Amino acid sequence: MNRFQNRVAVITGAAGGIGRATALRLAREGATVIAADLDEEGGKQVAEEVGGGFVRVDVTDESEVEALFSRVKDEYGSVDVAFNNAGISPPDDDSILTTGLDAWKRVQEVNLTSVYLCCKYALPHMREQGRGSIVNTASFVATMGAATSQVSYTASKGGVLALSRELGVQFAREGIRVNALSPGPVNTPLLQELFAKDPERAARRLVHVPLGRFAEATEIAAAVAFLASDDASFITASNFLVDGGISGAYVTPI
Ligand SMILES: NC(=O)c1ccc[n+]([C@@H]2O[C@H](COP(=O)([O-])OP(=O)(O)OC[C@H]3O[C@@H](n4cnc5c(N)ncnc54)[C@H](O)[C@@H]3O)[C@@H](O)[C@H]2O)c1
Repeated sequence: MNRFQNRVAVITGAAGGIGRATALRLAREGATVIAADLDEEGGKQVAEEVGGGFVRVDVTDESEVEALFSRVKDEYGSVDVAFNNAGISPPDDDSILTTGLDAWKRVQEVNLTSVYLCCKYALPHMREQGRGSIVNTASFVATMGAATSQVSYTASKGGVLALSRELGVQFAREGIRVNALSPGPVNTPLLQELFAKDPERAARRLVHVPLGRFAEATEIAAAVAFLASDDASFITASNFLVDGGISGAYVTPI
């Protein structure tokens, strides 16, 4: 498949799990990929692997985000896809009873304000082109409640979901689609480490997944590729859940 031939895709958080897998996937389908991340070493490595570019950017910094999209437009000619994916889930973001204002604010900045900024500065280029696809990474926790709370993370992803829906509606008639991608839990090194230490914690979560396992980053990347491509030409303002059935389940198979 060459769904991204002659298309330029900007991916934030491209040095890490889902972002990296998506960079590889879109490049394999013909995209010119610009990896944007705080992590210079990882970001450059991905850019090299996909034959694309790397821009060091802190997604919470307005001038850096504005410069990222202008630079891509100037150097590569267009901004066809923006996958706004950078995010954090730090350990001090926990139950509302223990989470302090600093942790709350930091997570809101990195997970939600960043998506506002990336959309704000990608959209003018897309409007000028009369074409574009934005995919913002939310999470299944924007849809489902968890007793194992990460309160600011959940609220930030709820914000990403509402923001994406609103922009999807506002810009629909200008040829721009905006969707929220909501992954279920993904099999990342961090998760593996956490669950190796605490099998009970893993079991408590896995029991809710009808497919009986966590997602691989490549499975999330496949969904992003679909949403970002013209195959999804009638999909906008959606909450695209890739969660192994979690949000549809009451009782799961044994
Ligand atoms: N892993 C999961 O189970 C899961 C589930 C649902 C949603 N998500 C979401 O998917 C997205 C990617 O998660 P991941 O698991 O691949 O995480 P990851 O930690 O592997 O990757 C995140 C990347 O974002 C970058 N980043 C962090 N802060 C940044 C900043 N201020 N500016 C620029 N870059 C920054 C990091 O350097 C890292 O490369 C996140 O938004 C996360 O909330 C993850």
